[in-house]
Amino acid sequence: MKTAVCPGSFDPITMGHLDIISRASKLFGSVVVLVSVNAAKNAAFTLEERVALARKATEHLPNVRVDSFDGLLVDYLRGLGDCAIVKGLRAMSDFEYEFQMALANKKLYDGAETIFLAAGADHMYLSSSLVKQIAHFGGDISGFVPDTILEEIQRRLSPGR
Ligand code: PNS
Repeated sequence: MKTAVCPGSFDPITMGHLDIISRASKLFGSVVVLVSVNAAKNAAFTLEERVALARKATEHLPNVRVDSFDGLLVDYLRGLGDCAIVKGLRAMSDFEYEFQMALANKKLYDGAETIFLAAGADHMYLSSSLVKQIAHFGGDISGFVPDTILEEIQRRLSPGR
């Protein structure tokens, strides 16, 4: 069965990401959470930290594994074989950016379709940036990130609080 690749910065992984990943794990034989580099963003967590957090957050999902790749997504996909890119769409504001990436990836590599899952109603507003801002000022991010990695994220993002 096809593999779903869920690419993203995951800086850090949120409940919104986890919702998409766990729903993809029911639709596909296996899922690769691909922690990638977005050249337009300065990450707060290192690639290794983001991978470790994503692993801990998804360890209860047996057909999900976490990998990282510092290169073009399509080059990773070429090495993987039969797969689809799965991404979450929150609102119209996501659409233009995600549509651009889907079309560019398709132009670069015809071998993988992009499939969008509608974000869960509880996660429409949620983003890694929001989590980072709230945590930075000592706000409560429980419910925004998986419980298993909550303390680690709080410690890292609001160390003095
Ligand atoms: O969570 P993000 O930051 O929206 O994810 C964007 C990401 C990391 C999936 C995208 O920037 C990406 O695919 N980066 C890898 C490099 C690449 O292939 N860039 C061209 C995308 S068309």
